[in-house]
Amino acid sequence: MKIFIDSADLEEIKSACSWGIIDGATTNPSLIKKAVDARGGTITMKDYIAEILETVPGPVSLEVIALQATNMMDQARMLYKTFSPHGDVAIKIPINTCMEDGMNLFDGLKAIKQLSEENIPVNTTLIMTPEQALLAAKAGAAYVSPFMGRIDDYIRTNLGLKRGVDYPKGDYYESAHVQRIVAKQIVERISRENSVSQLYRSKDMRELLAEGHDNGVYSGLDLVKRILQIYRTYDYNVQVIAASIRNTRQVRELAELGVHIATIPFSVLKDMIQHYKTMEGLRSFTADIVPAYEKLFE
Ligand code: E4P
Repeated sequence: MKIFIDSADLEEIKSACSWGIIDGATTNPSLIKKAVDARGGTITMKDYIAEILETVPGPVSLEVIALQATNMMDQARMLYKTFSPHGDVAIKIPINTCMEDGMNLFDGLKAIKQLSEENIPVNTTLIMTPEQALLAAKAGAAYVSPFMGRIDDYIRTNLGLKRGVDYPKGDYYESAHVQRIVAKQIVERISRENSVSQLYRSKDMRELLAEGHDNGVYSGLDLVKRILQIYRTYDYNVQVIAASIRNTRQVRELAELGVHIATIPFSVLKDMIQHYKTMEGLRSFTADIVPAYEKLFE
């Protein structure tokens, strides 16, 4: 599994790259703005992005900001031309740029198709469903980025839970437990009703059946699993970049699934190396060093 750093903070990027395990990076306009602002006007946006590319030993995703296909394509070509001399550039295009019903629904797709034909590698961002990932593959995207954490948040919001109130941002979403609870409630509801058609019609039963998933996607991890299954079935040559990762257990489960790439925030990368028993073990080994053994290293 390739590991990308999900950050536009140069200090974080430099530090993670010095560990020797980073294969690429993903940025977005909000991350870049935050990072450049933190430098207090001491560096231009262009120099800052060039420095990121020169630091990272692999593809760096840069995102367009336009909402219409032709403008997105112009911005993508400009980003690709300006920054390719500094490293390996991929262009992030949202799967759709619709912010109001019916508007710009297919502009992302058109831009992906055209840019891919021009051999500009596109990272399709804001992927929330396997259906969107299928369309991105059909349009020729080099990468798709399913947003795991945001899907977990969405399912929990629909269950009536609030991030920051009922669970912290880094919380692992136990979708299997939620599914067991829902299944138990469905069994209880069924036991009170003998008629299949009555059950099928009843509002409470239909509400129960819709609990704990987003149109049949049960978690962020499940989203990635279903996308991989579709791509493997049809042999699509698209790399999946699992994004919006919030904790180390998601990373492990992604590796078990065989995802191509995980783009990981700096804080989660730092959590991945740590375990209480590792620290305890090192302390006890260090305490046991005898002077004769120490002498070997002199
Ligand atoms: C990808 O590059 C996204 O910008 C990022 O993974 C989103 O993460 P978040 O949902 O934690 O904001």
